[in-house]
Amino acid sequence: MLVSAKEMLNKAKAGKYAVGQFNINNLEWTKAILQTAEELKSPVILGVSEGAGKYMCGYTTIVGMVNGMINELGITVPVALHLDHGSYEGALKCIEAGFSSVMFDGSHYPIEENIAKTKELVAICEEKGLSLEAEVGAIGGEEDGVIGSGEVADPNECKMIADLGVTMLAAGIGNIHGKYPANWAGLSFDTLDDIQKLTGTMPLVLHGGTGIPADMIKKAISLGVSKINVNTECQLAFAEATRKYIEAGKDLEGKGFDPRKLLADGTAAIKATVKEKMELFGSVGKA
Ligand code: 13P
Repeated sequence: MLVSAKEMLNKAKAGKYAVGQFNINNLEWTKAILQTAEELKSPVILGVSEGAGKYMCGYTTIVGMVNGMINELGITVPVALHLDHGSYEGALKCIEAGFSSVMFDGSHYPIEENIAKTKELVAICEEKGLSLEAEVGAIGGEEDGVIGSGEVADPNECKMIADLGVTMLAAGIGNIHGKYPANWAGLSFDTLDDIQKLTGTMPLVLHGGTGIPADMIKKAISLGVSKINVNTECQLAFAEATRKYIEAGKDLEGKGFDPRKLLADGTAAIKATVKEKMELFGSVGKA
């Protein structure tokens, strides 16, 4: 059964570790992440961007697939199915479809509008027992074709949004989606510290987990980050393993063209990446 992310994230915040959100793209992705979480007894959050939602034939298809897998694979660890960077309308659609958690990304609106829309969703999610992630300060990089440069959030605005009663808060601290450029300035820990001081026990979310060095991840967790999003790194691992398989000519040997074989190495690479992240985030054995 899908659960809200509230309990797992509050526990993570109190226990000074982070739960990974891994974005899904298809059946192999979802299966790899769920199996790894179960093997490592780690709570997990499956992230779905609006673009990935369209790709996977809509939110109800995804809810059916994930619920089916939880049953068929005998998954016992807590799993939240979460809309990543949702619009207001997208959040409503996911709530309707049976997601257990949604993110409303109002970071591109003026703060008053972000507050007004987030507030409406707080009421809806509270009534249905779902978790809600809000965002202040746009995360840079490329997300579904939109490129931003990585803002640093205003801690006072973070407090205003946190006080609305959201479950978790994503704040820009110089992080970006996708690979980090060679001249990246790193995370702004002073900002993170200011935000955590003002928002207290609220679990903070670090987007753009791909490519952030392990020491920065650990420091971010020590300063109140309890949820870390990883997407690109699984994609890179999957692509590299699949390329190697084909370059080695394995698709031409026997029935190596069978998708169950063709995609097996890539799927194993996703599992290895998820395992590495869960170990780094400290969520292993916390389910
Ligand atoms: P990366 O693709 O950089 O890992 O970011 C993932 C993310 O933050 C999804 O919201």
